[in-house]
Amino acid sequence: MQDRGPLGRHAKAAHGYYMFPQLEGEIGPHMRFRGKEVLNWSLNNYLGLANHPEVRQADADAAAQFGMAAPMGARMMSGDTKYHVQLEQELSAFMGYEDTMLMNFGYQGIMSVIEALLDRHDVAVYDAESHACIIDGLRQHLGKRLVYPHNDMAGLERQLQRATKLTAENNGAILVITEGVFGMSGNEGKLKEIVELKKKYNFRLLVDDAHGFGTMGPTGAGTAEHQGVGAGVDVYFSTFAKSMASIGAFVSSEAQVIEYLRYNTRSQIFAKALPLPIVVGALKRLELLRTRPELREKLWTIVDALKTGFRAKGFNIGTTTAPVIPVVLNGDETLAMAMVQDLRENFGIFCSIVVYPVIPRGMIILRIIPTAVHELADVERTITTFEEIQRRLTAGFYNKSYEEVAMPVPVAVGE
Ligand SMILES: Cc1ncc(COP(=O)(O)O)c(C=O)c1O
Repeated sequence: MQDRGPLGRHAKAAHGYYMFPQLEGEIGPHMRFRGKEVLNWSLNNYLGLANHPEVRQADADAAAQFGMAAPMGARMMSGDTKYHVQLEQELSAFMGYEDTMLMNFGYQGIMSVIEALLDRHDVAVYDAESHACIIDGLRQHLGKRLVYPHNDMAGLERQLQRATKLTAENNGAILVITEGVFGMSGNEGKLKEIVELKKKYNFRLLVDDAHGFGTMGPTGAGTAEHQGVGAGVDVYFSTFAKSMASIGAFVSSEAQVIEYLRYNTRSQIFAKALPLPIVVGALKRLELLRTRPELREKLWTIVDALKTGFRAKGFNIGTTTAPVIPVVLNGDETLAMAMVQDLRENFGIFCSIVVYPVIPRGMIILRIIPTAVHELADVERTITTFEEIQRRLTAGFYNKSYEEVAMPVPVAVGE
């Protein structure tokens, strides 16, 4: 274990502070970090459901009624319940698909869906910025994988031409895979353009809409709804870990595809079903997501205020059209650590930081995730603080060691 990996090599300096930080208190915009209150912009609790009183009550009631163990078994064997089926039916109706299958996790779920849908004669064509779970799913695929530059439709078309030739030779099919909303940049996948390409090429489209479900579209049904291409997405996938503020995931498609997945997705067939409190809790969350548009409207009030504020002050927030807001700054990893420590210790603002090797060297992204439970006063405070941070960055303040920056607050990193 000499090589500790690209992230692990920072563990000594970063563990417990930049990586594996422990936030305490009720989930929401105001939590505690190392004993101090922080304004928190780092949770994908988009609709604020994590701590919604009706959700908390539903979770507590379900846990009291069923316990966390039930059902004891894989759904195919002994773990199916009417609640699992009800949740699938409600998701299908909401999403406008014939059928839906629940999955235990988003990460493992999309991996398994990719593995189950493709055989070695098929060709997968995917966006270069796809989430790690899509890449890991593709690693299990025994056939060809063709990548296209992020959101580059000419690049996609070139790969579709290659894929068409390859599949004609061995009687395979083509699956295009993208995200609805990319979680780092807030860019939307170009679903409309991709669906348009179906007129020229024969393929199916799988969309992982982890960040779009609940946040995008007039009813919150996601990025495909937002772009008006609902039926063009053949297989729609999302996690419960973001807008739904829970754990688990689902995949929706035509009945034949879901039936195939039900009997062929190995990580579900051979694994215990989602616990009942999670399923019953998800029914409550879905009800609120569907029936309380004011939650999504409030989210977008905060999103729009942040974007307008950052842009007005000259910040580079990339090309986001979704709630995720990347504030892009220039600097190396050491400088980024000092800046983040300043933000947390001296300004009480907690957000995630993204540096090399996740993004190119010399770039720092402070990633802001707004939620429906933030307030406009939080936005104002954040913009003002970021202006000061930018001023300090330009003045060379963070070229000092990060211990100096955060003085006089003593912070022992990596204890
Ligand atoms: C696009 C995408 N897919 C899947 C996942 C993983 O979902 P889960 O946390 O449910 O495993 C994430 C989480 O970050 C994601 O962004």
